Amino acid sequence: MGNHFSKTTKNSYTCNSHVIFFSNKLITKNKMDFDEREHLGHILMREVFENNFSSHIHDIISNRDTKILDIGCGSGFWLTEMAADFPKPSYVGIDMLPVFPTSTVPSNITFQQHNLLNGLPFEDNTFDFIHMQSLFCDFTELQWETIVYKELARILKPGGWMEICDPEFEFCNGGPTANRISSAVCTYLRSRNVDPLIVQRHRSLIESIPSFSTSTVYHEKRHFPLGSYANKLGILGGYHISKSCRDILKGPIGKIVKLDVDINDELAREFDSHKTYFYVHRFYVQKKK
Ligand SMILES: C[S@@+](CC[C@H](N)C(=O)[O-])C[C@H]1O[C@@H](n2cnc3c(N)ncnc32)[C@H](O)[C@@H]1O
Repeated sequence: MGNHFSKTTKNSYTCNSHVIFFSNKLITKNKMDFDEREHLGHILMREVFENNFSSHIHDIISNRDTKILDIGCGSGFWLTEMAADFPKPSYVGIDMLPVFPTSTVPSNITFQQHNLLNGLPFEDNTFDFIHMQSLFCDFTELQWETIVYKELARILKPGGWMEICDPEFEFCNGGPTANRISSAVCTYLRSRNVDPLIVQRHRSLIESIPSFSTSTVYHEKRHFPLGSYANKLGILGGYHISKSCRDILKGPIGKIVKLDVDINDELAREFDSHKTYFYVHRFYVQKKK
């Protein structure tokens, strides 16, 4: 996954997920660390849901003319794995930042830099399957309502499937340190008109789009466990989230939350003693034929 940030784009890192969860400085300084975190995040989501997608696309996933889009693809791990598991379709990954790989890209994947909020450079009815994961903090409520779902519906083919996967940004059984960090992040997001619990509105937002209004919106809700009480998945989940929290504290949230303890040790202890977890959600729906 060789890739480097172009210096010319250095000043344009404005999306919340990079500012909060990766802190711009961190990405430019250590892309390998960024990729490692994204890779582990991808693996954990796949393990929690026990697959890379839930949409009913098994009849088209082995066709050469099937077109699949991943929006906010980041380092491209979901796409790379899908393209290896199902090599016949063509895949497109878009991200507003050039974080995706530029070398050693499989021939059936194309990566492009675009901001969804500016409209996507695709004709109406282009894709058979559109996937979007973990962009919950990148759009304001108004943008979800007026741009995001409309744009996805526009470029999805009639009969195509759309799948949105997001965490519910709230620890369940969180200890004091975990709760302090998550509440500071929520305050930061709300100050930018972002609803950290937008997952609770995905169903109604999807149903408000005419081409989805008569379709069944399927919903899966899973536990994302943190800590050794939940075996290997919990150990890796706890490691991933405490590393993310450590990086969060290097960005703007670190100016609000000051800790005099080692964040990794403290969170590992808290996760184990409180049996902390959070929920992740997947919504999937077929566009009217
Ligand atoms: C938290 S990461 C998730 C990456 C990947 N989907 C995953 O699940 O590992 C969110 C990604 O969405 C991208 N992003 C945020 N806002 C975007 C927008 N308006 N248009 C395109 N990409 C966007 C960010 O640059 C970032 O790479």
